[in-house]
Amino acid sequence: MSTKLLAGKRGVVFGALNKDSIAWKVAERCVEQGATITLTNAPVAMRLGELQDLGEKLNAEIIPADATSMEDLDALFEKSMDVLGGKIDFVLHAIGMSVNVRKNRHYTDLKYDWMQKTFDVSAISFHKVMQSLWKLDAMNEWGSILGLSYIAAQRVFPDYSEMAESKALLESFARSFGYHFAERKVRVNTVSQSPTWTTAGSGVKGFEEFFNYAEKMSPLGNASAEDCADYCITLFSDLTKRVTMQNLYHDGGFSSMGMNPAILGLEE
Ligand SMILES: NC(=O)c1ccc[n+]([C@@H]2O[C@H](COP(=O)([O-])OP(=O)(O)OC[C@H]3O[C@@H](n4cnc5c(N)ncnc54)[C@H](O)[C@@H]3O)[C@@H](O)[C@H]2O)c1
Repeated sequence: MSTKLLAGKRGVVFGALNKDSIAWKVAERCVEQGATITLTNAPVAMRLGELQDLGEKLNAEIIPADATSMEDLDALFEKSMDVLGGKIDFVLHAIGMSVNVRKNRHYTDLKYDWMQKTFDVSAISFHKVMQSLWKLDAMNEWGSILGLSYIAAQRVFPDYSEMAESKALLESFARSFGYHFAERKVRVNTVSQSPTWTTAGSGVKGFEEFFNYAEKMSPLGNASAEDCADYCITLFSDLTKRVTMQNLYHDGGFSSMGMNPAILGLEE
């Protein structure tokens, strides 16, 4: 009997941009654990070229898709089923981008057409992914669909700006679509991850200071991208078949803390 948690499973991994990306680490772990996968990212991200290296290393086909385009998503999942040889067992949505944050607009002065774009890329794309999978009937029974979130969906982190609302929307889509997908024995969850050094993460103002603050506040310290990959593997595996419609904190305990004496230099 194989001890690999994802032996024989087929997956689609969105959002690996470079070696720092959480999705990069997840993709590596999926293949280590016996899965075969396709990799996808926005066509513009392809030009940076790094994804090609990962594709070669993991023997994974790269299929460009703008996650805001239903046409691209339908083509992606059709092609993935073709390349992988059957229906899909797991999907990772690891996509986030805020136009107002990128352009340094203050929260009290956001531009709404940029906000729409932010919501479309960071949250509505998750619904689109699920709608495409649903209509194509592309998920196997006991499959797992996962998005990545952040605790700013529940609490105020001022510099996270409109990404807070994006994550609240993302988490809500996981619950609502999770209800419908249960009919097909497919689970849908979000993982609420610690601050992590990636292109998207470090784009938030004051990220370094905040990363260090979260490290001290979390009794187990910040969860790294590698830790996140390990957690995602458990959620794609058959060991978590009835975990669904949840937002799961993966943050070293940060979300349960009120105050940590370590922050004030008062450690016992
Ligand atoms: N880094 C953190 O601190 C942190 C913490 C919690 C949650 N997250 C979440 O993790 C996920 C992955 O981000 P990351 O931190 O690994 O950063 P990242 O910058 O490596 O990944 C973001 C990805 O989104 C992709 N993307 C953007 N627009 C797209 C589109 N239209 N279609 C398809 N893909 C598109 C980018 O090309 C990139 O690969 C995001 O949802 C992010 O919000 C990150």
